[in-house]
Order: sequence, then C-alpha cells, then structure tokens
Amino acid sequence: MKKFLGLEKVKTAVFISGTGSNLKSLIKFSHKKSSPIKIQLVISNNKKAKGLNISKKYKIKNKVYSFDQKKSAEKKILDDLNKNQIYLVCLAGFMKILSKNFIKKFKGKIINIHPSLLPKYKGLNTHKRAINNGDKFSGCTVHFINSKVDSGKIILQKKVKIVKKDTSEVLAKRILKQEHYLYPLAIKKVLINL
Ligand code: GAR
Repeated sequence: MKKFLGLEKVKTAVFISGTGSNLKSLIKFSHKKSSPIKIQLVISNNKKAKGLNISKKYKIKNKVYSFDQKKSAEKKILDDLNKNQIYLVCLAGFMKILSKNFIKKFKGKIINIHPSLLPKYKGLNTHKRAINNGDKFSGCTVHFINSKVDSGKIILQKKVKIVKKDTSEVLAKRILKQEHYLYPLAIKKVLINL
C-alpha cells in the first residue's frame, strides 16, 4: 500500500449492501482535513440499499450491479474502479464474496469491517453466536481481504463487553458504534503510519 503524503487524497470506493451507517461515518471522516481518503464512488449490489441515499445526499457517484451474474458484475466494477482511478476499496457492510480474480486485480488494496473479534466468528450471525457461546467480549475487526472469507491480515480490532441482558440486536448496535470509530482509525493506520 502506498503512503498518503499529505498532498492528494487517496481515491477510494466504498462497497455496500444495506443501511450504510459505516459509509456515512467514512464520508464524514473523508471530509476532515486530516483524512487521507476521498470517497469517489459507492458500489452496491442491492438497488434497495438505504446507503445509496447517503451517497446521493453527499453527491457521491454510485453504481448498482446485481451479483446474480457475478462475473459480469465484477468486470463492470473493475472498469468503474479503473475509470475513477480508485486506489483503495473499503467494504462496509458489503454482503457478497468477491472472486479470487477480483481480489487479485486489487491485491492488498481491499479492506473490510467485520462485526466480531476475528478469527472468531467469521461469516454471518456473529452477535448471536458470541452471546450463545457465553463470550464475555465481542467487537469488530478491520482487516485486509484475501481469497479466504474474513481471514486476511488484521489491521485493528476493538473489544466490546457483552452484558447479561444483551440481545443480538442490542449488542449489534453497540458494536456498530465502535465500527464507526474503528474504520477511520484503521484507514489512517494503513495509509499514514504503515
Ligand atoms: C456492519 O455491522 C458490518 O460490520 C457488517 O454489516 C453491518 C453493516 O452495517 N458487515 C458484515 O457482516 C460483513 N461480513 P452498515 O450498512 O450500517 O454499515
């Protein structure tokens, strides 16, 4: 990963599938003078993703591609990334698995946020699994993407305490708040203090 030297901000694309609260927090972060990124493009696999309204509100170009035909969707996305000179891809609640070929083309430049303390609870329903196992802590992880799901090198993690009366919804909300704080920090770590 090249470093941000304080001149031109790193052109970034954010991939979403749903609500887009992480997208919103990344956009706000990107507007700060001290932020190393400029969000140039939002990609969604879901035309109903609420996060698309956030990209519109902040006047960021968005593109929607159904992943029913994954190969052609990924080809179009790669074209968009090239056309927009995107250097960094941030997955933010993107619920599709990118192909090995796509990852290879953007090697080392795709990062993801996951709602668990990886390597624990890869995949879905992370909060429910943590509660059912009687874990004392859960949290969130920002990591690089490699060809295995939720297994790439960890950049940063934030622990969140699980309390007795937690439901997965309540815990998810508390962790999401920390995600909004952690993702910008991880981006700074990768682009500035690497
Ligand atoms: C977040 O909790 C994110 O960590 C999770 O989806 C949520 C998206 O929320 N991502 C994954 O589970 C990826 N495997 P948002 O749309 O409000 O940012």
